[in-house]
Amino acid sequence: MNKKSARPFVKWAGGKRRILREILELLPYHCKSYYEPFLGAGSVFIEMAKLKRFDTAIIGDKNHDLINAWKVIQSNVELLIDELHDVDHYKYDKSSYLDIRSQDTTKMSEIPLAARFIYLNKTCFNGLYRVNLRGQFNTPFGRYKNPTICDSDNLRMVSDILKCVKIIEGDFEFILKGISDGDCSYMDPPYLPLSNSANFDKYTPGGFTIEDHDRLAHVFSSIAEKSIRVIASNSSSGYSINLYRKFDIQMLKSSRNIGGGVDSRKSVREILISAGMTHEQAISSYC
Ligand SMILES: C[S@@+](CC[C@H](N)C(=O)[O-])C[C@H]1O[C@@H](n2cnc3c(N)ncnc32)[C@H](O)[C@@H]1O
Repeated sequence: MNKKSARPFVKWAGGKRRILREILELLPYHCKSYYEPFLGAGSVFIEMAKLKRFDTAIIGDKNHDLINAWKVIQSNVELLIDELHDVDHYKYDKSSYLDIRSQDTTKMSEIPLAARFIYLNKTCFNGLYRVNLRGQFNTPFGRYKNPTICDSDNLRMVSDILKCVKIIEGDFEFILKGISDGDCSYMDPPYLPLSNSANFDKYTPGGFTIEDHDRLAHVFSSIAEKSIRVIASNSSSGYSINLYRKFDIQMLKSSRNIGGGVDSRKSVREILISAGMTHEQAISSYC
C-alpha cells in the first residue's frame, strides 16, 4: 500500500495544507507521542504519520460527526466504503442532498453517520461544516461537476495510518491530559478574528470563545514550561500576538480558500507560535 499518497478525506475550514512545510519545520523529526487536539481534516497529522515522525499519536477534536468519521475509518473502513457505494442513496443532486441533510442523526449508528458526514462534505458548498444553534448542519448545496463521494483508496490509506493511534472526541484540555517528556503537539484552534466580519468558528455549537483562547494559551504555556515541544497557529490579531508574546512567533502570509465570499479568499496573515524543546534539542542539551 502506498502510504505516501494518503491525504485528508474531507475539506475542512482552516485546513493547513498550504502552510504544511512551515509547520513541519518547527516540529521534531521524531517524538514519542504526537498530540493534535484540533484535528479537523488532519493534514498535519497525516503528513507526520507518512514521514514516521512519531511512535504513536493521540488525535482529537470536539466535533462529534468528524470524530465519528475518523473512528469509523480506523476500525470499519470496508463497511463505510460499502455504505458509500449505495449510489441510489448517496446521489449528487440537490433533492438527495436536502433529504440527507435533514435526517435526524440522533439515533443513527456510527457507519451511516460517517457516510452521511463524508457525503455532505463532498457535496455541500465549499466543503464548509456549519451548524445552527441547535447543532444541525445547515450549509447549502454545492455546485460541482462530478464530485467523488467515495475515494475508497484514500479511505483505506487513511485507515492504514490510524493503526495504533488513539482518537478522542472532546475538548483540547482533555485530549492533551497525558502529554509528557519526549512528546510534542501541534495545536490549530479556530482562529481569533482579524475583524468582526472575519469570524468563522461554527465547527461546534457554541464556537470557540475568547475565554477558550485564554485557556488554550495557558495550556500552551504549561506544556512549554515542561520543555515539551509545542507549536500553535492562530491569526495575526493583536490579541493572539499579545497572548503568546513570551514565545517565538513567526508571521506567515497565506491565502485562505474556504469560508465563503471573495473577501475570505484574500491573503490573511497568520502566525505560528513555537516553544519547548524538540527531542533532538533535548538530547544535545544533555551532551
Ligand atoms: C482550524 S480547525 C483545524 C483544522 C485542521 N488543522 C486541518 O488541517 O484540517 C479547528 C478545529 O478545532 C475544533 N474545535 C473547536 N473547539 C474545540 C475544542 N474546545 N477542543 C477541541 N477541538 C475544538 C473544530 O471542530 C475544528 O475542527
